[in-house]
Amino acid sequence: MITDVRSTAHMPACRVCGQPVREFFDFGRQPVSDAFRDPTDSSAEFYYDLAVGACGGCAMVQQSYEVPRARMFHAEYPYRSSGSAFMRKHFEAFAHHLLDTELAVPDPFVVEIGSNDGVMLRTIAHAGVRHLGVEPSGGAADAARAHGVRVLTEFFQEDSAGRVRTEDGPADVIFSANTVSHIARLDSIFRGVDALLAPDGVFVVEDRYLGDIVDSTAFDQIYDEHFYLFSVESVRNVSRRFGFDLVDITRLPVHGGTIRFTIARAGARPVAPAVDELLAGERARGLAEHRTLDRFAVGTRQARTELVDLLRRLRDQGRTVVGYGATAKSATVTNYCGIGPDLVPYICDSTPAKHGKLAPGSGIPVRPSDAFADPYPDYALLFAWNHAEEIMAKEHRFAAAGGRWIRYVPRVHIV
Ligand code: SAH
Ligand code: TMP
Ligand code: ZN
Repeated sequence: MITDVRSTAHMPACRVCGQPVREFFDFGRQPVSDAFRDPTDSSAEFYYDLAVGACGGCAMVQQSYEVPRARMFHAEYPYRSSGSAFMRKHFEAFAHHLLDTELAVPDPFVVEIGSNDGVMLRTIAHAGVRHLGVEPSGGAADAARAHGVRVLTEFFQEDSAGRVRTEDGPADVIFSANTVSHIARLDSIFRGVDALLAPDGVFVVEDRYLGDIVDSTAFDQIYDEHFYLFSVESVRNVSRRFGFDLVDITRLPVHGGTIRFTIARAGARPVAPAVDELLAGERARGLAEHRTLDRFAVGTRQARTELVDLLRRLRDQGRTVVGYGATAKSATVTNYCGIGPDLVPYICDSTPAKHGKLAPGSGIPVRPSDAFADPYPDYALLFAWNHAEEIMAKEHRFAAAGGRWIRYVPRVHIV
């Protein structure tokens, strides 16, 4: 099915504050990024228009068109957070940090929004602390349960949060990583948090940081699931709108540049200096301003030209190129750049649910990680560049055998 969801309005209304949003990039028609297809599936693929803009009122960077959430998050949603050893360690360390700080109170209770396969909550469960994951994707939720994690297979929103409050009491911590940015209805999240959070509790949100995306021209961080790209200014504004304060931030070296926002009820906690410092930095550099975002757009177009030129040149020289990591991000790269099996015949990936499937839109087959060495290609296009350290260490034999990695963030280059 080709659904034309492009409206005629040039300036869509902000999903947070209603003010006009100025689009700064349009990637054109894109498929659902995690909709890996069975090769026998002959039904037409769903497409939507992927365009991003910045709100002139609240600075929130957001997409112009929303993919219905049930098309993205369902029983077969294939992404599993625990596929990365680095991310497992990252969330395990954060769980221990929570246990030592916010959860060091009598009978603590922690809720996670988008708990996926329990990558964070499994540590909390092992510590015997009361917890609940709220996770609509059934397969991911079952994977978490297999690790002893308690999960409610639902979307987190005002009504589900209210039910949790009635049944389990207030939450000392509500945590959410790489999920709040996926939810166009941010009002439903904040109203849900308002219903569930203890008076002195904290809502901790980890997500990709707009500043890092712009700095590294990480255009592939823009795909259906990443509906919002957060900055300190936009998150502070949306928090205030719903009766909360942004009280702290921490920048984190995961997923190519992440920021952890700590949000509390208005007036409940002092605001750490780091918030105002980074806010001042964002304003000084004009992070959400036209000139900055237009520069990002120019860099994105340049990356496409250079990457496609490189892949065509290698093909014409008879070199083999294979993709590494069938990330959701790669859907933007392949579909925006027009990269199909003629340039990248297959992508190797460690996620069992993606094996034997075709990547959305591009139709590039996905093969298990073992296929990478069977035989090694001349070049590997690193779609999972956010896991570069882990993958290059794991695949050190590839480089030792003369193989070269191709990267396109922060610019197109051969490693
Ligand atoms: N927290 C994990 C998973 C991120 S993937 C990590 O950081 O790796 C995003 C997850 O959010 C998916 O598992 C998806 O099913 C879930 N999700 C999407 N919308 C949601 C909602 N409204 N409430 C709760 N979870 C949601
Ligand atoms: P992500 O960038 O959204 O976390 O997705 C990473 C993808 O890369 C996911 O499909 C799993 C895959 N992957 C590998 O194939 N091998 C690896 O070593 C790692 C860390 C990830
Ligand atoms: Zn706005």
